Amino acid sequence: MIQQIAILGCGLIGSSWATFFASQGFRTKLYDIDPATSQRGTQQAEDNLQKLVELEALSEEKLEEAISNLLPVKSLEELLCDCDYVQESVLEDYDVKADLYREMETFLSNRTIIASSSSGLLMSRMQQALEHPQRSLIAHPFNPPHLIPLVELVPGKQTSRETIETVRDFFLQLGKQPVLLKKEVPGHIANRLAAALWREALSLLDDDVASLEDIDTALCSGPGLRWALMGQHLIYELGGGVGGYDHFIETIGSSFSTYWEDMQTWSQIPESAKKKAIEGTSPLFEKRTREEWLAWRDEKLIKIQQILEE
Ligand SMILES: NC(=O)c1ccc[n+]([C@@H]2O[C@H](COP(=O)([O-])OP(=O)(O)OC[C@H]3O[C@@H](n4cnc5c(N)ncnc54)[C@H](O)[C@@H]3O)[C@@H](O)[C@H]2O)c1
Repeated sequence: MIQQIAILGCGLIGSSWATFFASQGFRTKLYDIDPATSQRGTQQAEDNLQKLVELEALSEEKLEEAISNLLPVKSLEELLCDCDYVQESVLEDYDVKADLYREMETFLSNRTIIASSSSGLLMSRMQQALEHPQRSLIAHPFNPPHLIPLVELVPGKQTSRETIETVRDFFLQLGKQPVLLKKEVPGHIANRLAAALWREALSLLDDDVASLEDIDTALCSGPGLRWALMGQHLIYELGGGVGGYDHFIETIGSSFSTYWEDMQTWSQIPESAKKKAIEGTSPLFEKRTREEWLAWRDEKLIKIQQILEE
């Protein structure tokens, strides 16, 4: 049974995971190789919890308990000595993660599960560093993990069935939406979809088809609204009318070939696209500061999910 959580790496994702587990009533230790980040991450998690109360996503009575669940520690040994589940959220780099896994294992009991937040690395490669690889897998969240329900579970070749089941049941019990990959691919599911879309969003900008703001509006005021409800396959099944997906593929699907033929296929972001993207976001900050955008995002994310739960 998972009771004691260890957050390894307290940057953007680690601090948000800590918020989530602490709000769910788990004793949650936090450690970062950089002591200042460890403190900052803990403070960030506290601030997140406070904001959850303001947004009525956490009750005032549970706030104190949730904050007391956050326990920053000073060493890896202290972090891991009595934990059941480690959510590793350190730098996205094979060598950094592998070195860390080797070191971690000296402090872990062999029942402890190691879950990596990795956005797109392969677990089979990372778990080669472990003597007990069967208890490791990827549990990839979407930012911010304390507000977005998706968790992509990606087993490596040596991950045991028991580990997969335990982690899947754990997240289901906590109200998350786990999806299980049948095979490993770089970027899992959601980031591959995001990567395809992002390349096109950058290409449209680079080719001066529209402004950055209009490209983003075309997404969030159109398909984005439907995506909160249903995925691409169901959308196009319904888009085919009474003929369903079959009809959609045979008719509208063929015109998509014209678009695909016209699309860029680069795998390195062109310098010109980088420049336009970075310059193009500045007007957005005339409307709201970064902090205001984040607060706005979090408030709307909670409201959307409340509607979906109705
Ligand atoms: N940023 C995102 O949107 C996002 C979303 C989902 C998953 N992820 C994944 O989460 C992980 C962390 O990403 P992030 O955006 O939080 O990065 P980040 O740079 O904000 O945080 C990484 C933290 O890891 C710490 N760290 C590095 N080596 C360490 C070690 N050996 N021991 C302990 N701490 C160490 C760093 O000091 C840093 O604070 C990555 O694997 C990333 O792919 C990121």
